[in-house]
Amino acid sequence: MRKLIAGNWKMNGSLASLGEAGAIAIASAMHPDVDVAIALPATLLYAAKQQRLSGPRGTLAFGAQDVHHAASGAHTGCLSAAMLREAGASFTIVGHSERRADQHETNADVRAKAMAAHLEGLSVILCVGETEAQRDAGTAAAVVEAQIVESLPDKADSSWLTLSYEPRWAIGTGRTPTMEEIAEIHAHARATLIKAIGDNGASVRILYGGSVTGENAQSILAVPGVDGALVGGASLTAAKFMPIVEAAARGADRPL
Ligand code: PGA
Repeated sequence: MRKLIAGNWKMNGSLASLGEAGAIAIASAMHPDVDVAIALPATLLYAAKQQRLSGPRGTLAFGAQDVHHAASGAHTGCLSAAMLREAGASFTIVGHSERRADQHETNADVRAKAMAAHLEGLSVILCVGETEAQRDAGTAAAVVEAQIVESLPDKADSSWLTLSYEPRWAIGTGRTPTMEEIAEIHAHARATLIKAIGDNGASVRILYGGSVTGENAQSILAVPGVDGALVGGASLTAAKFMPIVEAAARGADRPL
């Protein structure tokens, strides 16, 4: 499976920082075996499109970090999938744990958002992951399974859906699970996908997210069942992000 390295700038960045996105696109062109994407703040999508920062061959995909489930209407401050697509998004993240926590999004909300995005032709990165208390209680796999089952959109298909396993306690903390713990959850997520949508569930990419850096990317990307990474803090500059893309490219070069 081709690896996907996706950045998430969260509420960071300005027009000036699009230079970093441009540098990431140029450097990523050296690694055609790896898919590279960045979820920008929505305010930067149109400028990235106007400046053709994706590169001539669309090397770097730009997307959004969230989407509203409705096509239009009285939803002050929200953005529809069509608006995001028009602004230049080719994908959106849904169900990021910061939104599940801060905006109280439920699995049903996440599912509706994923379906709205797909209807407008956006690819979807759907995030799941347990809290620290849930991990300590030994329920991480069960929590992730329930999140997948309840937030998986209708007709989920690997051509547009990516899953991202992000333990909440690993996000922005510098802490990561052990490689065995990552492998265990990824295997469980894979089995859950196959049970839910059949054979196609075998080809949905499953990313790992949570404190991925240039230092740990090689080990994390080598974990069986890890098909890429969703990267927050280390995606804000080319200097921090490219070592992660390069680690994925080295993995792609490895003979099977
Ligand atoms: P982090 O964020 O890499 O800063 O831990 C990951 C994420 O929230 O997607």
